[in-house]
Amino acid sequence: MVWIHPALQGLGLALSFYVLLLGWRRFGMVHLGRAGLTFAWKRHVSLGGLTIGIWLAGICLGLGVSWWTWKVVFITNGHYQVGLAMLPLMVFGLASGRVMDRRKARRRLLPLAHGLNNLVLVALALVQLATGIGVIRDMILP
Ligand code: HEM
Ligand code: HEM
Repeated sequence: MVWIHPALQGLGLALSFYVLLLGWRRFGMVHLGRAGLTFAWKRHVSLGGLTIGIWLAGICLGLGVSWWTWKVVFITNGHYQVGLAMLPLMVFGLASGRVMDRRKARRRLLPLAHGLNNLVLVALALVQLATGIGVIRDMILP
């Protein structure tokens, strides 16, 4: 049971690298004017949604498993704090992506805000990997 959340969030992290790579190509097209690049729009939208969906479900599972294991939540210090701080970024990443997908237009600012927001999300998920390994080492294994 305690491994479900680490496995799920790790899967989300691996997926996010690929989604970021797809988005990076779009960045090259829109902002750097690079010719010869293509953007797998539909794949980015579906896998991006899947990534953030996995992370959201993973937060609920992490809290649920903490409660189930220790009968208390919010005990992992930096790990839960950064995890909860990721919530508004996930909502903005999903919402801005949906807006740009639903009504296609020539945009610069919203894609930039979306890309930067989600880059920060991926970086924070990496922080979660490091602190999550600490939680396993200090609180699960002993
Ligand atoms: C981990 C998740 C995600 C990452 C890392 C990510 C990253 C990026 C990046 C870096 C760009 C390029 C921004 C730019 O050109 O300045 C981009 C564009 C885009 N993303 Fe995402 N994204 C994610 C999730 C999503 C989701 C969930 C959706 C839709 C629901 C979405 C829809 C789009 C669309 C439509 C564009 C192109 C916008 C345009 O140029 O008009 N993305 N994304
Ligand atoms: C998107 C990334 C992640 C987020 C947002 C996240 C968030 C959370 C949250 C909110 C909790 C509840 C903690 C508490 O109540 O104090 C938790 C628990 C936990 N997290 Fe994460 N986490 C992420 C990734 C990871 C990763 C990659 C690992 C392991 C390598 C990990 C290991 C753990 C462990 C061991 C727990 C204790 C409960 C359990 O075993 O499921 N987390 N996490």
